[in-house]
Amino acid sequence: MIAVRELVKRYGGTVAVDGLTFTVEPGRVTGFLGPNGAGKSTTLRMVLGLDAPTSGSATVGGMPYRDLPSPTRRVGALLDPGAVEPGRTARGHLLWQARGAGIGRARVDEVLGLVGLADRGGHRIRHLSLGMRQRLGIAGALLGDPGVLILDEPLNGLDPEGIVWVRRLLRGFADEGRTVLVSSHLMNEMEATADHVLVISRGRLVADVGIAELAAGARERVEVATPDPGGLSALLARAGAAPAPAGDGRLEVTGMDAARVGELAAAHGIVLHALVPVRARLEDAFIRLTGQNGRAADGAAGEGEAEGEWVR
Ligand SMILES: Nc1ncnc2c1ncn2[C@@H]1O[C@H](COP(=O)(O)OP(=O)(O)O)[C@@H](O)[C@H]1O
Ligand SMILES: [Mg+2]
Repeated sequence: MIAVRELVKRYGGTVAVDGLTFTVEPGRVTGFLGPNGAGKSTTLRMVLGLDAPTSGSATVGGMPYRDLPSPTRRVGALLDPGAVEPGRTARGHLLWQARGAGIGRARVDEVLGLVGLADRGGHRIRHLSLGMRQRLGIAGALLGDPGVLILDEPLNGLDPEGIVWVRRLLRGFADEGRTVLVSSHLMNEMEATADHVLVISRGRLVADVGIAELAAGARERVEVATPDPGGLSALLARAGAAPAPAGDGRLEVTGMDAARVGELAAAHGIVLHALVPVRARLEDAFIRLTGQNGRAADGAAGEGEAEGEWVR
């Protein structure tokens, strides 16, 4: 279990982490979400004892990371996959890491196999793709067969196959009762990955919620194409739905399901060219739950860059 209490980190005038309190439970995958600059990496570095909190505390299994006996066997972490010696081979890198942690050579080949790099052990890191370097970083995190796994943006740079693979890996870990904390700046990436999400914005916690609960709160939409958007729009509005023009004669309708939209159109002789229910987006749920526009460059003064990364 990971416990963060009233955690604060200031860098000069910048408040990177602003009073975070949360608990990461074993047996499930917890997504740590927030736009770029929200304070995710800073929080994870403090959990791993790589950065000292300005105030507050972070513990793993009830203890600060630095006080853990043989910490690399208890906690596996991937922070920055770029922070490796590019001239080393994949196996050489892992051997170096294993030696530092008192872990035997056999485990190195085991984790290379686990992450699908069995035949790349002899390749120099500079010749590995970004996706393979992510896999190598994950291999390093797995070396100590840890009960707690902390991965910072592990899906970055992965191809679709790699993303599916990481998801399975994390699921397997959680199902074994281990603790898994995985960060991402992409809302929808977490939709298929996490059981539970912690959402932060500007160093503050804005949601701590189960993924099912979050998705249930998201609004369903229906996209409709019709040669008579004005007529359909008026009709739907009278029936209590909220239609909004979406260009090219298309409407985006909330507050009514696709079947009812189709029935109303038919009853009034309005032709439909398309009628598409759109699955609720986690991003919408985020906005609804927190009252924040996750895309917001609009509104917030000067913070546009940091807050503008909720892209799908
Ligand atoms: N070593 C540092 N020195 C100064 N500012 C930093 C440092 N590390 C992070 N920050 C700032 O703290 C904020 C949070 O950064 P970070 O934790 O990297 O966010 P995230 O991982 O969510 O993208 C940002 O404004 C960033 O510029
Ligand atoms: Mg980060």
